[in-house]
Order: sequence, then structure tokens, then C-alpha cells
Amino acid sequence: MKLIILHFLAIVNINSDPFIKTLAITDNQSKTIKQEAYLVLNTKCNFCHSVKKNRTVFSLENMDGFSKAIANQVFIKKKMPKGRKNKLSTLEEEQLLNWIKTLDQS
Ligand code: HEC
Repeated sequence: MKLIILHFLAIVNINSDPFIKTLAITDNQSKTIKQEAYLVLNTKCNFCHSVKKNRTVFSLENMDGFSKAIANQVFIKKKMPKGRKNKLSTLEEEQLLNWIKTLDQS
């Protein structure tokens, strides 16, 4: 009996992995993924960008167009979010990556 419960828990855990969720993305799911990513941009980036001159303030309307610049700054150059105290959590990084993966990067 215990083993069955453990198995069940393992399956539930695997299904809640955000990376696995992206394997089959429907339109509705990618909207949610985008909204989650927007929340990260709005809480971890906009507070600073909005007070600096000539910095992009990310919105649901413009964020797709900045996905390459965001991927570059956050994951390749690792310059953003600027400031030692401004870090993204693993979950927030996954949320940004999931959104970037839903876009056509060609
Ligand atoms: C504490 C302030 C601060 C935070 C937080 C911050 N940025 Fe920036 N960002 C800057 C500044 C200042 C620049 C200008 C380039 C530089 O100084 O390195 C910049 C430049 C950029 C650029 C290139 C120019 C532009 O405005 O489009 C991108 C893309 C960017 N940031 C993305 C992000 C993302 C994504 C986050 C959140 C995950 C973030 N930044 C968080 C201050 C910040």
C-alpha cells in the first residue's frame, strides 16, 4: 500500500514540473505562460527600468518583441537583472525560459 502511494506521489510530482508542462502547449497554456513571464518582468525588471532614462518598460504588448534581448541579457550575458540584490529565483528563471520557448526564435 505504501508503495502505491509513493508511486502516486511521484507521478503527481513529475506532472507539476514546469519543464514537462511545456511539452504539449496549447494556445491557452501559452497565454498563461506569457502572463507568468510578464509578472516576472514587471516585478523584477520594470521597477528599475521605469526610473532609468531610455530603458524599456516591459508590457504584455511589447515583451514578445524583446524576447531575444531579454534572453541575451538574462541567460547569455547574465547582466540582468542588474544589481547584486536583484536576483531571479529558479522558478522565475523557468517562467521566463518557458515563455521564450513558446516563441518562434527563427
Ligand atoms: C537595478 C536596475 C535594473 C534592473 C532590476 C533590471 N535592469 Fe535591465 N537595464 C538596466 C540598465 C541601467 C540598463 C542599461 C545597460 C546597462 O547599464 O547595463 C539595462 C538594460 C537592459 C536591456 C537592454 C536595453 C533595453 O532597455 O532594452 C535589457 C533587454 C534588459 N535590461 C533587460 C532586463 C530584464 C529582463 C530585467 C529583469 C529580469 C532587468 N533588465 C532588470 C537596469 C536594470
